[in-house]
Amino acid sequence: MLALTGRILPASNRAPSANLGWRASLGSVTGVEIRTARSEDAEAIRAIYNAEVVGSTVTFDLVERSPAEHDEWMAQHSGVYALVVAEEGGEVIGFASVSPYRPRPAYSTTVEDSVYVAPAHRGHGVGKALLTGLVDRARMHGFHSVIARIVGDHDASIALHRSCGFALVGTEREIGRKFGRWLDVDLMQLLL
Ligand SMILES: CC(C)(COP(=O)(O)OP(=O)(O)OC[C@H]1O[C@@H](n2cnc3c(N)ncnc32)[C@H](O)[C@@H]1OP(=O)(O)O)[C@@H](O)C(=O)NCCC(=O)NCCS
Repeated sequence: MLALTGRILPASNRAPSANLGWRASLGSVTGVEIRTARSEDAEAIRAIYNAEVVGSTVTFDLVERSPAEHDEWMAQHSGVYALVVAEEGGEVIGFASVSPYRPRPAYSTTVEDSVYVAPAHRGHGVGKALLTGLVDRARMHGFHSVIARIVGDHDASIALHRSCGFALVGTEREIGRKFGRWLDVDLMQLLL
């Protein structure tokens, strides 16, 4: 994964915001809390993510994330690169994160988002609550632009991002391959 060393960091990385606490309960679905992830959420997040790795083309990972790899990923998302979860009745039912977009330093004001909701909880506004909370944090952390890279024909993710203000800015043709198929990637962007 990408290291912060040598990159231009947003202002919030130099002076951590004291506002994270009151933002932590941002969310708009009854009974669902959107909050900053904690280390004890790791396994639930890993389970939601790995189900998509092996079962769908929405992530271009081909192999499930191990506990050690996931711990490293959690650590990389404990600072300026936000990681939020949706919690309902004590259960983590979804998560959303931002990650560095590209390694070269001039890209450091742009982040790439990810949003995952457990299958049983889709279609009830949880994805939108997660993405709204995530974008709010990305803005607060000083980023300028959020990019979503969405596998071709993924209507749910396109609708989710559109409903949070993202616009389609392009399509990369047959840029990936998984399950023996060529995959397009649609790019959606939100300027903060
Ligand atoms: C994409 C995903 C996060 C959406 O989460 P969700 O909780 O089901 O979405 P929401 O209920 O918050 O819906 C958000 C918007 O998308 C629309 N939407 C949701 N599912 C849809 C579908 N299958 N087809 C069309 N529109 C859909 C909703 O109508 C809503 O639009 P509105 O705000 O204009 O009313 C969820 O399907 C998921 O986790 N999929 C697997 C992981 C994944 O693909 N992540 C994205 C990778 S790019």
